[in-house]
Amino acid sequence: MTHPTAYDDLLSQTRGLLTGERDLLANAANLTAVLYHSLPEINWVGIYFLKGNDLVLGPFQGQPACTRIPLGKGVCGTAASRCETVLVPNVHEFPGHIACDAASNSEIVVPLVAGEELLGVLDVDSPVYSRFDEADRRGLESLVAILLERSDIAA
Ligand code: SME
Repeated sequence: MTHPTAYDDLLSQTRGLLTGERDLLANAANLTAVLYHSLPEINWVGIYFLKGNDLVLGPFQGQPACTRIPLGKGVCGTAASRCETVLVPNVHEFPGHIACDAASNSEIVVPLVAGEELLGVLDVDSPVYSRFDEADRRGLESLVAILLERSDIAA
């Protein structure tokens, strides 16, 4: 990896940042800001929330993005319908990839799952091919877990 991210530092920073506030939207907004300013070589980070059968754009940092992605469509909809993280080394080779920012060349999408409930996805894009690896998967999944532990989930 050419750009190791100090996920341990990021995890403790995020635990601190999300202490004292239980609102999911507010905490999601701050998490996207921390990631945008901490992860090297990324151009977009955001959260889509599941509403009905669509993922709807939530807090993000980067260029304006597509607002609604049906479950099963694109990288986001695929990660959501599988309820598992999807790493895409080259988005141009991913069938059905939805291009929001032309600068994006690789992508990782982590589902937000609380218990049995799918709440949405965290999406991170990079202009660098093969930007994301297993360390990013573990780190981002841990960050999402902190977000969900420290926020109230509406029933
Ligand atoms: N590329 C995503 C769409 C969201 S943007 O990257 C912000 C996808 O294929 O689902």
